[in-house]
Amino acid sequence: MKYSLLIGCILVGMASMSRAQESSISLNVQVDKPGAAISPILNGIFFEDINFAADGGLYPERLKNRSFEFEDPMMGWRKTERGGVVGGFGLSEDRPLSPNNPHFLRVLIEQPGGGMVLTNEGFRGIGVKQGAKYTFSVYVRAMNAPGAAGGQSPQSITVELQGANNRAIAEPQSVTGFTTEWKKYSCTVEPTTTEPKAKLAVVFKGAGTLDVDMLSLYPDETFNNRPNGLRPDLAQLLKDLKPGFMRFPGGCIVEGRVLDQRYQWKTTIGDVNDRKLIMNRWNVEFAAPRNAPDYYQSFGLGFFEYFQLCEDIGAKPLPILNCGMSCQFNLGELQPMDQLDPYIQDVLDLIEFANGPADSAWGAKRAAMGHPQPFGLTMVGIGNEQWGPQYVERYEKFAKTIKAKYPRVQLVSGAGPDPSGASFDFAWKELKRLNADIIDEHFYRPPEFFYANVNRYDKYDRNGPKVFAGEFAAHTRPVKKNNWEAALAEAALMTGLERNGDIVQLASYAPLFAHVDAWQWNPNLIWFDNLRSFGTPNYYVQKLFSANRGSKILPVKLGDGQKIYACASLNETGSELILKVVNADSAAHDIRVNLGGAGNIQKTAQIQVLSSSDLQTENTLDEPTRLSPVESTIDNAGANFSHSFPGYSLSIVRLTIK
Ligand code: AHR
Repeated sequence: MKYSLLIGCILVGMASMSRAQESSISLNVQVDKPGAAISPILNGIFFEDINFAADGGLYPERLKNRSFEFEDPMMGWRKTERGGVVGGFGLSEDRPLSPNNPHFLRVLIEQPGGGMVLTNEGFRGIGVKQGAKYTFSVYVRAMNAPGAAGGQSPQSITVELQGANNRAIAEPQSVTGFTTEWKKYSCTVEPTTTEPKAKLAVVFKGAGTLDVDMLSLYPDETFNNRPNGLRPDLAQLLKDLKPGFMRFPGGCIVEGRVLDQRYQWKTTIGDVNDRKLIMNRWNVEFAAPRNAPDYYQSFGLGFFEYFQLCEDIGAKPLPILNCGMSCQFNLGELQPMDQLDPYIQDVLDLIEFANGPADSAWGAKRAAMGHPQPFGLTMVGIGNEQWGPQYVERYEKFAKTIKAKYPRVQLVSGAGPDPSGASFDFAWKELKRLNADIIDEHFYRPPEFFYANVNRYDKYDRNGPKVFAGEFAAHTRPVKKNNWEAALAEAALMTGLERNGDIVQLASYAPLFAHVDAWQWNPNLIWFDNLRSFGTPNYYVQKLFSANRGSKILPVKLGDGQKIYACASLNETGSELILKVVNADSAAHDIRVNLGGAGNIQKTAQIQVLSSSDLQTENTLDEPTRLSPVESTIDNAGANFSHSFPGYSLSIVRLTIK
């Protein structure tokens, strides 16, 4: 037994020796010369409400236009009748439920019959699951309460869930007992079948006049069981990324097409009834078929929920606020310099909302929403991807005031939409002069750019501002796709981000989410329909880097002339060496790994490999993990060992230092 084991070892040893002799590429890691610390929050996520990422996505409200506030107040709703006499039906603003959302529906039924029906189409349908529970709720006010003088017959509202061909797919449920005051009524709907594109029919019965507002069909199951909580599968995909930070809520939606339509966080907190809905700027940004006339922001997912999500997934919050400029791709409207105070005050108040004691003015609002403890905000973004002197002068004014009150809060500034060129250089020069903390760079570029920029940050001034690679994605040609070609190029670049993890503080792919039936922008990290979701190959690249983030950079030297990219790091305790290798060549390559000054390396190492010989490989709703990491072990690890890295692959090797 012992003898055969010995023979086995010799054979393995000989095999790896002969492989080593064949190796043309060497990868030298100086384990005894650890460099700077890698940002502990380097890999994160960037959430923007684009592609129906919020309403219709992460925010799981099933009814579209629940408060009749869209520009066409009946968008998403259809009215039909089942007999009886409907004497009136229309929008009203008479003593609304909330002055912030002034419209509601007034229904007058003169003679009861089968009822008047209002059907909601949901967000490209209503996704429901058999066995799950959904709470239907509605605010109702009766103009004449039953029993009151001049009162009418009892009125009720029945909800019917309909599948294909209007087939009932849940027992109808009713609410009744309305009074002359606005009050919330609810019942539970339990689908008998799973249906991705159901409809909800709301049937008004009995004679009389009813005012209704804020109709809702909300899943009982939410991520972490939060009230007004998030869609579990999508939030879990975020959590699985182990993000160091989350940037929110945009992107261009922070800016607005005009300043009046900018994102204003104060209108997104508190009771959902009071959150003031606005049109989503991606509604009209692109021509058909990428326009989305029914794209609005209900702000059911507002700043409190964003902070709470950050906490739930272990990500540091990075809110971005408008800097007094609307989107420069649109009007580029400017708030005059001498009228910036309300914008700056929004930042100061946000810091207090997130961090202030529960008895401070804004901290009290957080506490009233159920979170007396601070959220621990350490970073705020001033503007999105603005550019030019107008941005610099505004940033300077914001920075002066904010730093005077909160010197330890780091400010993220923007370098514009391009990763090079005159306005990029201008931004860097000026922001450096102003001692900016972190500068946000964006690059949506073809895969070649990613390979060409692997060493981009090697020469950045270590004494200047830090970098936020805030929005990046490789855009393949002729069609932009979430395929392996794009993801592999991103992986190559990310070796450069981690090797420079001292200066690159934060990095995030963009955009994050897209609804398969309602997207405006492509490619995106995570795709979903009304019930299912999947991570793209790009998602798994992000996940591998984030979940295997090291803590100290190790110097790496690669043999020249090959399409190999690598970075190495030590974990926090120094007990593990994490090697990330990208083979961007179609052929497998034997690589001779030399771990200089490593001491004892355990023979068995963990390896996770993401690879496909076909660069066109994509994941889909039906094959969500077609390309996903495969885990195994290496049994010949040591201070010097050879390993064959497959063609077109990203490999993460975790070696134990004894
Ligand atoms: O990620 C999509 C858009 O790209 C963002 O809103 C904007 O910042 C950038 O132009």
